[in-house]
Amino acid sequence: MWPDKAQILRELYEELAPVCDLQDLEKVKAKYLGKNGIVKNLSKSLKDIPLEQRKEFGIIANEIREIVEQIFEEKTNYFKELKTRENLLKEYVDPTIPHTIKKGHLHPISLTLDRILNILKSMGFLEKKGPELEKEEYNFDMLNIPKYHPARDMQDTFYVNKEGYVLRTHTSPIQIRTMLSEKPPIYITAPGKVYRKDDDPTHSPMFFQVEGLAIDKHINLKYLKYTLDTFLKLFFDKSLKTRYRSSYFPFTEPSFEVDIGCVICGGSGCRVCKNTGWLEVMGCGMVHPNVLTNCHIDANIYIGFAFGMGVERLAMLYYGIDNIKSFYENDVRFLSHF
Ligand code: DAH
Repeated sequence: MWPDKAQILRELYEELAPVCDLQDLEKVKAKYLGKNGIVKNLSKSLKDIPLEQRKEFGIIANEIREIVEQIFEEKTNYFKELKTRENLLKEYVDPTIPHTIKKGHLHPISLTLDRILNILKSMGFLEKKGPELEKEEYNFDMLNIPKYHPARDMQDTFYVNKEGYVLRTHTSPIQIRTMLSEKPPIYITAPGKVYRKDDDPTHSPMFFQVEGLAIDKHINLKYLKYTLDTFLKLFFDKSLKTRYRSSYFPFTEPSFEVDIGCVICGGSGCRVCKNTGWLEVMGCGMVHPNVLTNCHIDANIYIGFAFGMGVERLAMLYYGIDNIKSFYENDVRFLSHF
C-alpha cells in the first residue's frame, strides 16, 4: 500500500498529545521506530512494490522516517529539559527567606581551654602538641615513673595492642617530647585529651588537661608560685587565696597540690568544697633532676617547674557545673548557656 504521509503524521500527533513524560514517549516511539514499528514496516514492504514504483516509494518512506525521527528527537529533548527543570525546582532554596536557625558557638570546654591558653600565652608560655597514642617510655619511664608505680596498673591505664604504646594518661609526655627536641630556655603549655579508666560524676575516661613547663637557669619555687597565683587570679577574674600543699609526683621534687579558696562559698564551707573552704585545682612542682637528665639537659645548670591541670575541673568551677558528663552529652539546652 502506498504510504500516506499526512495520515501517518496525523496519527502520530494524536498519539503524542496525551504523552507527558519520557516513559510514555518511549512507548509511542517503539510503536513507530521500533523493530516492528510503523516506519520500519514501510521499508520492509518496499520489496512488495512493483519495481518501477520502488524509487518513489523509497523516497517517501525515507522522508517519513526522517520526519518521525526528528519529531521524537525534539520531544525527547523537551521532556529531558522538563525533568532537569523539575529537579532544579526541587532543590531551589529561596535565599530571601529570613532564617531562624540559631547560630552555634564554642563548646564550654573549648572556651575554657582558650581562656587557659590565652592567659598562659600572655605570660610567655607557647603551645605544644603531642600524640594521644603515646610511647609508654614518654608517658611513664622518662617521667621518672617506675615500672611498679600504681599509675601503670591496668586499672588506670588504657593499654592498646601496639607494643610499647598507651593512650596517654596525662599531657606530661609532651614535656619529654619538647625537652628532647628543643634546647632551654623552654616555656611551654601542652593542652590535649587524656585517657584513664575513671568514671563517676567528677571523672570521665577521656578528659582534657593543660600541662605547663618552664626550664631555665634562674628558676626557683617563687617563680612557680607567682606564675600559678597570677594565672588563677586571671582565670577566675578575682583575687583568690591560694595554698600549696605538699604532695608527690614522680616527675617533680618537691611536688605540690594547689588549692584555691572556694569560689562557690567564698571559704565558709559548701557541698562543692566539702565544707573545707578549699578547692584543689592543679598539681605542680620543681622538675625532678632525673627527668632533665633523661632528656639530656644538664641538671647542674638548668632547673625548671611544671604544672598540670584538668580543664573540665576548672570549667566546672568557673561555670558552677556539678556533673562532668554534662560536657559530653551535647544537650543543646545545656550548651546554649555559654
Ligand atoms: N600529670 C599529672 C596528672 O596527670 C599532673 C601534673 C602534676 C603535671 C604535677 C605536672 C606536675 O606537670 O608538675 O595527674
